[in-house]
Amino acid sequence: MKLLRTIANLGYGSRRDVTAMIREGRVTDARGEVLYADDEPPHADVRVDGDPLDPPAGLLLMLHKPVGYTCSTKDRGRLVYDLLPPRFAHRSPQLSTVGRLDRDTSGLLLMTDDGALLHRIISPKSKLPKVYEATLAQPLRGDAATVFASGTLMLESEKTPLLPAELELLSPTRARLTLHEGRYHQVRRMFAALGNHVEALHRSRVGGLALDGLPEGEWRALGDEDRARLFS
Ligand code: URA
Repeated sequence: MKLLRTIANLGYGSRRDVTAMIREGRVTDARGEVLYADDEPPHADVRVDGDPLDPPAGLLLMLHKPVGYTCSTKDRGRLVYDLLPPRFAHRSPQLSTVGRLDRDTSGLLLMTDDGALLHRIISPKSKLPKVYEATLAQPLRGDAATVFASGTLMLESEKTPLLPAELELLSPTRARLTLHEGRYHQVRRMFAALGNHVEALHRSRVGGLALDGLPEGEWRALGDEDRARLFS
């Protein structure tokens, strides 16, 4: 792909903006040689104002979402995109969240511009485990793990029962829950079905990927090893 289009698609500006950047000599190769709009250099060899280009299309990233941020491109209040470089909200193809976490949920959120990958992760067929830690308003019922594992629990306004889910008690009011599907507000609704209430919710794992010390509010691009781990 021609340099002009590559850079515009990464959200650096409109084609007109990027044309101006190129004319001003702000776009170079790694040795500082000025590049031109029609050049097609290797992505890793391009610099804008001396900095490497943002990751190319096919980006998959992990964000440690804090409470208070919404998984949306336009919503009132703080958005998960506010935690990424501003250019990332203007990329083409668009960077989307892989499923959603509620505004009041923290933890591991994946984002990608790769539609096929997104579909593979959220597809019901993938059954990728997602692990949540929930803090509850009341001590858990003794039969909670059995109910969640049964494969027969029906949530209000759903047509099919939930898939079996694994519950591990961490204390009388804290639990780790592993789901193999993703329905609307699923964790909160599951505990509500037991007459309880989730006071705090954190996602610690998706597939084989964990936050692994990534600080809250920070993100990192995922490479081939991470992708393999995701589906392992
Ligand atoms: N289940 C919920 O209830 N909320 C989330 O954010 C994720 C799963």
